[in-house]
Amino acid sequence: MSVEQFKLRMRRYNPESGDAPYWDEHTVELEPHRSVLEGILQARDRFDGSIGIRCSCRQAICGSCGVRINGEPALACHTHLEAAVRGAREGAIEIEPMGNMPVIKDLIVDMDAVHWTKVRRVTPWLINKQPVPEREYLVDHDSMVDVTQTMACIQCGACVSDCLAMEVDPGFIGPAALAKAYRFVGDPRDDRQFERLNDLAQDPQGIFDCTHCFRCVEACPKDVDPMGQIMRLRRIATSDYQIVDRNNGRRHEAAFTTLVRDYGLNHEAELLPRSYGGNSWFGKFAPAAGKELLSSLPVIVKGLLRGKFNPKTAIFGHKLRKQDLDAVRAIYEKVEGRERRYELNLYVTGSDEDAEAPDAKSETGTPSEPGATNEQVPIASGGAEESAGA
Ligand code: SF4
Ligand code: SF4
Ligand code: FES
Repeated sequence: MSVEQFKLRMRRYNPESGDAPYWDEHTVELEPHRSVLEGILQARDRFDGSIGIRCSCRQAICGSCGVRINGEPALACHTHLEAAVRGAREGAIEIEPMGNMPVIKDLIVDMDAVHWTKVRRVTPWLINKQPVPEREYLVDHDSMVDVTQTMACIQCGACVSDCLAMEVDPGFIGPAALAKAYRFVGDPRDDRQFERLNDLAQDPQGIFDCTHCFRCVEACPKDVDPMGQIMRLRRIATSDYQIVDRNNGRRHEAAFTTLVRDYGLNHEAELLPRSYGGNSWFGKFAPAAGKELLSSLPVIVKGLLRGKFNPKTAIFGHKLRKQDLDAVRAIYEKVEGRERRYELNLYVTGSDEDAEAPDAKSETGTPSEPGATNEQVPIASGGAEESAGA
């Protein structure tokens, strides 16, 4: 393949210099299938030895080279120049440091200040069940497959970079650390499942701080699905352990699900009272609901003035046709009527499992005892064989 020219526009910044950040452009010459990282390294070798970039493996394994390419989080070593140039504005591939973390120099961010501090927050090691067996713990296969998805994390920080909740609340524990928390909550050898969940549920910046924006799911180069792991932590905390958190997260979720069951769609005016006072007539007068309503008034008025919602529907709820409402309720009956909860674990289970009959799948040993089971659905790409770190 012949060499082509690619224009790289890099964000440069040295906090120690006292100068403002600026854009720096260099044209590199490489085959199109080479990576953006190789382009940066060539620019550094040929034009400016002071360009700051962190990298190691160059194979999407070590997680060092996380940056933003054309505004999207990515591993520089795992992004081809030909792909990056397709999304480039004015023909220049824009490369910036990751977001939500302070810049140390140019494209290097301080992972320790944010990412690793949050990972340490979730006690990222196994706390053994006692007594410790004389030889090894025996763990059933499905339980380990279940946590393999989170073990695939390479700690690149791409999800942290794009987490919208962290942008608003930098104290939020965040997607990577919470995915790591599931890795131990889901491990049947761990002795602190309840304590871990209770801690993360009660923390105002814990599992209920996530806003389900899906950015971490899109950002992750290893299909770890951090948001999915956070939702699983919530389900185990609320459904299995019935943890009532001081953030009102459990009641708020229950309010949503019961409102959709009752009205077929969310009922805005009922959401607050039901979140604070439960599903009863007296609940409407819960003092905390009134307080929250007052603090939300400016947002409500703004939404009303901008025509974001219909006041009549917001106050009286949606009126669905009876057959539509019945169809919604039938879904609830089906799901709630199940003896066990099914979790979708969209991860590679390996060729042995692919060959297995459906009956041979998990009967026991889900990480989320009591009550839950998981279902592994093989997918074609990604894979445990690429994973690093535990
Ligand atoms: S889904 Fe939650 S954790 Fe993931 S980026 Fe959005 S707010 Fe952050
Ligand atoms: S969850 Fe994905 S995006 Fe986040 S640090 Fe791990 S590998 Fe990177
Ligand atoms: S250099 Fe290791 S992941 Fe890119």
